[in-house]
Amino acid sequence: MVPSALHGLFCLCTCLTLVHPFDWQDPNPVTYIKFSALMDAAIFGQTGIPRGKGPYSVGCTDLMFGYTDESTFLRLYYPTQNDDHSDTLWIPNEEYFFGLSKFIGKNWVIDKLLGLLFGSMTTPAKWDSPLRTGEKYPLIVFSHGLGAFRTIYSAIGIDLASHGFIVAAVEHRDGSAAATYYFKDQSAVEIGNKTWLYIKQEAPDRNFQVQKRAKECSQALTLILDIDHGKPAKNVLDLKFDVKQLKDSIDRNKIAIIGHSFGGATVIQALSEDQRFRCGIALDAWMRPLSDEVYARIPQPLFFINSEQFQHFGNNTEMVHFYSSDKERKMITIRGSVHQNFADFTFATGKIIGYMFILKGTIDSYVAIELSNKASLAFLQKHLGLRKGFDQWNSLIEGEDENLIPGTNTDKTTRILQNFTGIEK
Ligand SMILES: *[C@@H]1O[C@H](CO)[C@@H](O)[C@H](O)[C@H]1NC(C)=O
Ligand SMILES: *[C@@H]1O[C@H](CO)[C@@H](O)[C@H](O)[C@H]1NC(C)=O
Ligand SMILES: *[C@@H]1O[C@H](CO)[C@@H](O)[C@H](O)[C@H]1NC(C)=O
Repeated sequence: MVPSALHGLFCLCTCLTLVHPFDWQDPNPVTYIKFSALMDAAIFGQTGIPRGKGPYSVGCTDLMFGYTDESTFLRLYYPTQNDDHSDTLWIPNEEYFFGLSKFIGKNWVIDKLLGLLFGSMTTPAKWDSPLRTGEKYPLIVFSHGLGAFRTIYSAIGIDLASHGFIVAAVEHRDGSAAATYYFKDQSAVEIGNKTWLYIKQEAPDRNFQVQKRAKECSQALTLILDIDHGKPAKNVLDLKFDVKQLKDSIDRNKIAIIGHSFGGATVIQALSEDQRFRCGIALDAWMRPLSDEVYARIPQPLFFINSEQFQHFGNNTEMVHFYSSDKERKMITIRGSVHQNFADFTFATGKIIGYMFILKGTIDSYVAIELSNKASLAFLQKHLGLRKGFDQWNSLIEGEDENLIPGTNTDKTTRILQNFTGIEK
């Protein structure tokens, strides 16, 4: 019962139809022992989500603007000047655990169990602490995967913020988030009546979803830029973080978009529609939601960072359709990595559980995320024209590291890529 539920965890933020490596049989005693070890870690409040490696302290808050499912909802990571706030609750409402168990396709006990395991876990960013002033920051919009939500990519958001970015991790309302909520109107806000929206179980129109997701990213960007310009905006969540601090905080020409899995497809869709995004990074993109029409519509630089396992299953040859000699395209694959290496759950469990449920690959999860983050920083510096020291990691963009493969690990794609990039297999 219990282990079979955890089995589903590896599917988080992925596509169930694409990645279904095995089905859990009857529980065995060894698993129960490991499971109690995991339980202990959760009870003692340990968190494995890594701190940012950059020089800035990191703050975090949630912003919601407007009402209904058309409102914008995001988690913001930013440089802060105040370290005395407490760490951020990682998954802040029990409904997200209910959504996760729904996504996994398991019954109602599981959400209680997930809540028990992860409900008090924190991530190393100072909740609601003030924005560090005196500098304009480049802005990243981040898009989550299928069955995920805004809070579970904090290892990426925090690292970027620690290097001087403001990161807006949106929560999508297209039915692809495990769970999300909105307020119907101001009176619902006043009595705290949230309307919850859970992941759609029936097979939805993925292309329709990816278009909605891209619009939500653009809408979030517009809102933040408006606030940066000094337009008054009210956070309906009524938190301590004063939104007015964001006035004149954004380096308005330095905006990029990053996303994982379904969020990787969202990156591509958003780049094709919104030129304010100067470049994009697609982390282990799930390409199926995209229509062929976007292939030719992306003049901006685009960077694919892939896991070895997911692309092997999906044979994502679609990625090469974005290549052409006059466009900046890069692709690397992290050796021994799995699809979940990009989301926080890879840090939330021990090695054995993580390996068993494919939340971890054979590569150390900390090494994998550091490679992905450093390669991303180098790419962002290059294409946003930043003056930081991130160019020290330029070689990672080319896949020059013992843990990286230049291009991809799948033969078919590699052969096509060679025609564009000259990468030798
Ligand atoms: C809360 O909102 C829902 C609709 O979103 C409504 O049906 C319900 O009556 C509301 N509850 C209260 C106590 O107002
Ligand atoms: C991936 O490649 C293998 C071998 O070439 C093939 O059998 C399989 O059908 C492919 N899967 C997809 C989803 O294209
Ligand atoms: C690479 O380009 C050559 C020449 O244009 C073409 O014949 C070949 O089919 C291409 N290979 C792949 C794998 O697309």
